[in-house]
Amino acid sequence: MKVGVIYGGMSTEHDVSMMSGKNVLENLDKKKYDIIPIYIDKNGKWYINNKEIKNIVDKLKEMDVIFPVLHGLYGEDGTIQGMLELLKIPYVGCDIISSSMCMDKVYTKCVLQKANIKQAKYIYIKNENTYVNEEFEEMKLENDEIVKLVEEKLQFPVFVKPSNSGSSVGVTKASNGPELIKAIEEASIYDKKVLVEEAIVGKEVECAVLGNDNPKASTVGEILSAEEFYSYDAKYNNAESKTRIPAQISEEKIEEIRRTAVKAFKAMDCKGLARVDFFVKNDTNEVYINEINTMPGFTEISMYPKLWGYMGLEYSELLDELINLAIERSR
Ligand SMILES: Nc1ncnc2c1ncn2[C@@H]1O[C@H](COP(=O)(O)OP(=O)(O)O)[C@@H](O)[C@H]1O
Ligand SMILES: [Mg+2]
Repeated sequence: MKVGVIYGGMSTEHDVSMMSGKNVLENLDKKKYDIIPIYIDKNGKWYINNKEIKNIVDKLKEMDVIFPVLHGLYGEDGTIQGMLELLKIPYVGCDIISSSMCMDKVYTKCVLQKANIKQAKYIYIKNENTYVNEEFEEMKLENDEIVKLVEEKLQFPVFVKPSNSGSSVGVTKASNGPELIKAIEEASIYDKKVLVEEAIVGKEVECAVLGNDNPKASTVGEILSAEEFYSYDAKYNNAESKTRIPAQISEEKIEEIRRTAVKAFKAMDCKGLARVDFFVKNDTNEVYINEINTMPGFTEISMYPKLWGYMGLEYSELLDELINLAIERSR
């Protein structure tokens, strides 16, 4: 079976994808698969074995299955998935709509709200100064009006983030008006749609989901961030950041999170895999969903494979299973 592994890509998470892709390539069973590494550079040029491929469509058509190990825009957002659908090539992971919905935090919030899954309160700001209310009506606001709105609806501190991003790029914590305005400017660099969210003080935990129509949830892992929150640096550059499997929460909480993860996976119509991230609030012990990642970090030390490792599924067996699920879905 010819397996094309696509990595790199045009998003802010290019470097993260390089690490994930490298680990996937090293751990795919060479006896089972004919493995083709397919690299996309930051400008969107495609390469196979260091040779630029101008007509990538013809090359892709030779593959039996594609593993798009791409994070963020132009990879995790339904674009690659759309191309592969058109070419009728089976591929690992979520399809167009689930990828694009999960990539967009505003739409994720809307669907999860419909599913009655608890999440942080938020305000949606477009183009830096336009408040979009629950009915998607738009109102242009001055800076002080935005600050007032946040004080009324959420209270400080808040987290400000681009609707479409990942790896914490563009995410900042704001504790007052001036910080809020700066944070909205910063997030707007990455997406014209920005979320301002109430800060949840508690444990940050993650659950891995695997499957198509009958998805299974792993145990729950905990993030022990070395910095105030799990920023890009805390994730990738700070060796003091640790993970703990299983999370230090009660058995009942673990079960609640596993159930909610599967519920969210189904609500978003996910396929193959997703990592569902939560907070467990300190004072009330309530579970809040944070986000769903359709192509989570995939190095050997990343949470998604580690959670399955804990469940008894080794990294290379997990890759086999994902490829099987991709083939199964294409039938
Ligand atoms: N509402 C919140 N309350 C507390 N911390 C948050 C909140 N939103 C985000 N964070 C922190 O910021 C990090 C990145 O935010 P997240 O929404 O997960 O974006 P990304 O898609 O970039 O990972 C989280 O891992 C968490 O540490
Ligand atoms: Mg996150």
